[in-house]
Amino acid sequence: MSPTLTDASPVANDSLAVLERTRSTAETYGIPLAVLAELTHRCPLQCPYCSNPVEFDRANSELTTDEWKKVLSELAEIGVLQIHFSGGEPTARKDIVELVQHATDVGLYSNLITSAVLLTREKLEALADAGLCHVQISFQGNEPVVADRVGGYRGGHVKKIEVARWTRELDLPLTVNAVMHRQNLHQLGDIIEMAVDLDADRLEVANVQYYGWALKNRAALMPTIEQIDDTSRIVDEARIRLKGILDIDYVVPDYYALRPKKCMGGWGRQFFNISPAGKVLPCHAAETITGLDFESVRSNHSIAWIWQNSEAFNRYRGTAWMPEPCQSCEFKEVDFGGCRCQAFALTGDAGNTDPACTYSPRHQDIFKLAETESSEGADRFLYRNFKGGTLETQETEGTHGR
Ligand code: FES
Repeated sequence: MSPTLTDASPVANDSLAVLERTRSTAETYGIPLAVLAELTHRCPLQCPYCSNPVEFDRANSELTTDEWKKVLSELAEIGVLQIHFSGGEPTARKDIVELVQHATDVGLYSNLITSAVLLTREKLEALADAGLCHVQISFQGNEPVVADRVGGYRGGHVKKIEVARWTRELDLPLTVNAVMHRQNLHQLGDIIEMAVDLDADRLEVANVQYYGWALKNRAALMPTIEQIDDTSRIVDEARIRLKGILDIDYVVPDYYALRPKKCMGGWGRQFFNISPAGKVLPCHAAETITGLDFESVRSNHSIAWIWQNSEAFNRYRGTAWMPEPCQSCEFKEVDFGGCRCQAFALTGDAGNTDPACTYSPRHQDIFKLAETESSEGADRFLYRNFKGGTLETQETEGTHGR
């Protein structure tokens, strides 16, 4: 439940005033029910497909504990119901228990999106005591040889399994998030069994999205068309067999799709996230688009004002901005033109049609590119880190056991 607004709260009054003044807009673009809080870009893992921007926010630019608490209170006041604590690795923040407790105190449902490798049993119990409602753990494979290589973190997989078991022992719901690509798709069947064995409620079979770090590693990650066919078959079979036991989320990866995905439910329609330094972003990869300025929670504007009025949120909102072929397309209110970050990554202009769409003049090109890159067999990773990336050594590369 959201706390009661009082006259003593200038942020609440400002936010309410914004919603009132822009009522007609607010009816179309109401405040999202769930928000992603990226507490930090720091992370012990070095996944080559990380969705964080290539230019990280440094630790000294991160919002302070008090600033995050103020943000959480403001979100609850304007009607947000769920907060997803993410990163980087959110448990790299020493104040994670305090922030979860504050989310609980202001009435927010909290989800921890974590690599799990920094968690101890004691810390997880403290988070549960602070009111944490759900845990999502990322897995890079179903066994240590592949998983630890992909994450660039030795011992990570065993630790994740341990934390997943603690999560269920503490009676917290668990989602397994498996990011899939050419170098681990052969493990999908075993990953599904692992999720069942861990007593997860949900499995996200998340195909890599190619912007930021993943774009740099695309040739090493792009699946083959045969793998995509196998994946669809494996998921279809598992969904039937595991009905009522495990929910499986899966969509065909963009480069092989016919229709683009309705990314973020449409730009500025249903979602925003807040970066470690406090920028309010329409999606987690929005900072990969150059030429857009994003407002900060450190500005004089309320979050509600930023959501309704900021230039970045309004640039690709709705359908008026769309070029052809989107503008006259019968699906324009179904997929809202696909993904702006992918359009920027592949065409240099975020206002273009997402090339994942068959109606894009570039669609055939990216399909061919996927076929070529996936068949050439480049497999060394550029690992994500604050140094701008480290190329995998031959020694590590030889350990992946495919
Ligand atoms: Fe940014 Fe799709 S990830 S719009």
